[in-house]
Amino acid sequence: MNTRRFLITGGSQGIGAAVVAAARQSGHEVVFTGRQQELIDEVERRTGAHGVRADVGVPEDNESAVAASRERMGGIDVLVNNAGYGYFAAIGELDVGKMRANFETNVFGLVDLTNRVVPMMKERGDGDIVNLASTSGIKGHKNGTSYSASKWAVRGISQCWQEELRPHGIRVVCICPSEVQTNWGGKTGRDNPNKLYATDIAQAIMSVLSAERRALWPEFAVFATNPWKEG
Ligand SMILES: NC(=O)c1ccc[n+]([C@@H]2O[C@H](COP(=O)([O-])OP(=O)(O)OC[C@H]3O[C@@H](n4cnc5c(N)ncnc54)[C@H](OP(=O)(O)O)[C@@H]3O)[C@@H](O)[C@H]2O)c1
Repeated sequence: MNTRRFLITGGSQGIGAAVVAAARQSGHEVVFTGRQQELIDEVERRTGAHGVRADVGVPEDNESAVAASRERMGGIDVLVNNAGYGYFAAIGELDVGKMRANFETNVFGLVDLTNRVVPMMKERGDGDIVNLASTSGIKGHKNGTSYSASKWAVRGISQCWQEELRPHGIRVVCICPSEVQTNWGGKTGRDNPNKLYATDIAQAIMSVLSAERRALWPEFAVFATNPWKEG
C-alpha cells in the first residue's frame, strides 16, 4: 500500500489507538480524534500521529477534525469510523434519552463526519471508509436495544454507501468484532491470551486496506478461535 492519509475517530485508546499505531508503523500519515486530552497526548507521543480533541457527536468538532486533516496532511484517503460506546438497559427500564445520545455518537456522528469527508474522496475518485460495527449488530441480545440497534444501523448504512460509492472508486468496509479486551464500558485489566486484543482488529483493518483496489470486502466479523479456554 502506498503512503496514505488516515483520519481515525476514537484513536485515544482501545481499537482506535491500535489502528493509529499500526498505520504509523506502516509509514502512513495519521490524524486521530478522542476526548480525553491526556490519552490523546500519550498516543501522540508514542506514535507521532496528530491528535485532535473532538467529540464525533458534535458537528463543529467533526469540522475541526476534517480541517486539521486538511491542514496537516492535505486531505484524507482513509477514514476509520471507530469512536463508539454502548448503553445497555432492559426494555421496560430503558432511558430513551440515553439511547438517543448513544445514537448521536455511534450513528449520527459517524454519518456527519463521513458526509464531510466523502466529497474530497469523490473528487479524487479514491478512498477507503472503514466502519466499526459489532457482532452485536448481527445478532441482538439481552439489554442490547440501544447498542445492538446502533451497530445494526452502521451495517445498513455501510451497505448503502457501498452501492453509492463503488462507482467513485471508494471502498466501504464494515467490520464486526466480537469481544475485544479494551477498556470498553469501563472493563479494565482483561488479559486472556485466548481472547481478542485491539491489535487483532487493527491487523484485520490493515489487511483489508492492503488488498488490491479492485477487491472490496464489504463486511466481515472477527472472532477469537477459542475464547472459552482459560489462560
Ligand atoms: N471492545 C469490544 O468488545 C468491541 C466489540 C465490537 C465492536 N466494538 C466497537 O469498536 C469501537 C472501539 O471500541 P473500543 O473497545 O476500542 O472502545 P474504548 O476502548 O472504550 O475506546 C473508545 C474510543 O472512542 C472514543 N470515543 C468514544 N466516544 C467518542 C465520541 N463521542 N467522540 C470521539 N471519540 C469518542 C474514546 O475516546 P476518549 O476515551 O478519549 O473519550 C476512545 O478513544 C467502538 O465503536 C465499539 O463499539 C468494540
